[in-house]
Amino acid sequence: MTVGIDDIAIYIPRLFLDARDFAEARGMDPDKLQRGLGISKMAIVDTNQDPACMAANACLRIMQRDNMSPKDIGRLYVATESSLDESKAMNSYVIGMLEQVYGEGSFEHCGGIECKFACVSGSYALYDNSNWIRAGEADEKSAIVVVSDIAKYDLGSSGEYTQGAGAVAMLVNDKPRLLEFDPKVTSTSIKNEYDFYRPFGKETPIVHGQYSNLLYLIQVKKALMAYKEKALATGLIKPKEGETILDHIDFLNMHLPYSNMGKKALAYLLRHEWRKLPRWKKIIEKIGMEEPTPKDPRGTIESVLADTDFMTKDHEFTKKFTKTEEFQETYDAKLSSSLIASQMIGNLYTASLYLGLRSSLEFEFQKGTNLEGKRVGFGSYGSGSSAMVFSGVILPRYKEIVKDMNLEAEIGNRVKLSLEEYEEIHENKRSPQENFLESKKEFILVDVENAPESRGERRYVYNG
Ligand code: CAA
Repeated sequence: MTVGIDDIAIYIPRLFLDARDFAEARGMDPDKLQRGLGISKMAIVDTNQDPACMAANACLRIMQRDNMSPKDIGRLYVATESSLDESKAMNSYVIGMLEQVYGEGSFEHCGGIECKFACVSGSYALYDNSNWIRAGEADEKSAIVVVSDIAKYDLGSSGEYTQGAGAVAMLVNDKPRLLEFDPKVTSTSIKNEYDFYRPFGKETPIVHGQYSNLLYLIQVKKALMAYKEKALATGLIKPKEGETILDHIDFLNMHLPYSNMGKKALAYLLRHEWRKLPRWKKIIEKIGMEEPTPKDPRGTIESVLADTDFMTKDHEFTKKFTKTEEFQETYDAKLSSSLIASQMIGNLYTASLYLGLRSSLEFEFQKGTNLEGKRVGFGSYGSGSSAMVFSGVILPRYKEIVKDMNLEAEIGNRVKLSLEEYEEIHENKRSPQENFLESKKEFILVDVENAPESRGERRYVYNG
């Protein structure tokens, strides 16, 4: 049975913070953000936007574009780590907004929940909804999985330059035009960790930045190893002598807290996969140094990070590796197009991976690449922590969806914030009514109740 992504729609706030302006204001070298992390702009929500209305806007776009009515949708799942309530699920707010357009009660048959596991929960939601369809429960209906987040860190923190916001809605069904999921290979890894977390009542996360970078790499590698076992056992991928499964994955989409994290992950996974292959000898010769190992190869992440001699040598080795022709070819062919949107928009937490997919489709299509039959691998990571690796194949009708993709047009006219304006929004100094932009044909937040008996109730309107 074919199950996969039929269509994909995005909603990105039009306000943005320019990375160069930001770096100068914080006394940083702008090159650190632009070249070091791959960030040029960060999307920022207006005062009358929140993760629920971004999610509803992405849903509305996909439904309108595909001429769908609520009866065509059997499930609506929202994955987010920007929850608005400890109990009430974000998809209920989204349903409420959509019913302003489609009519009161029009979605009452539609099940769904809010999913949480930092940035990886959207991937679990996609997997669970695909299995709902595979189980024959969908009754010809589609599922919508929406990933929506505001990546917000403390002012002055090292996370502050990896912010962003936006939502991606994906239509999942048994007649997909875009991408079919590969069956029986989805693989996960999981471990109780405190690399990045947001305790109750706190608006911004507690982050151990370098720890989170390394943990991301380790967890995705573990999930990839599990994927590899399944892909070999099921015969999905049949590598020849001297090949790795990565040779059989045409495009890679990684979770992108910032765009250069994708490059870091590719280098880490290639090193792991290539070091057992004949091609590695030639690469080591080109790099001109042996691959370093930590003093305690079985040590903890803390002990590896504290091993400064290893960390310095490993950093040098990675830099040299990423300059080799072999790495560059793989990077250009499999990954680079997926990073473009992240540079323009920033971190979208749950939505980052899927914005990367969108980016890869749009920019590969623009290059004239024939995408039909190409295998796409996904490396999803959520702090706390879990990774999921899965894959899919691009379907013959993909052009119907991809030909109209235009990131800039879909975002609309972007408006640059001054640092003062950005800080006012960040510190919640403006009410929803003190918005910066006029909105048209979208849902906006108008009020959040404060009275004890209705505290937290949120009111939205559709600005038709
Ligand atoms: N010119 C050019 N490049 C420069 C430079 C300059 N002047 N100064 C530094 N750089 C480069 C560095 O060499 C480095 O690149 P490489 O690693 O490729 O060498 C890059 O810029 C970043 O430098 P640092 O590592 O020194 O940056 P930092 O310590 O200030 O912080 C960070 C980076 C850890 C990602 C931090 O922004 C952070 O904590 N972000 C939030 C957490 C996060 O995103 N973690 C990612 C994994 S966890 C996850 O993915 C879940 C999620 O969404 C949060």
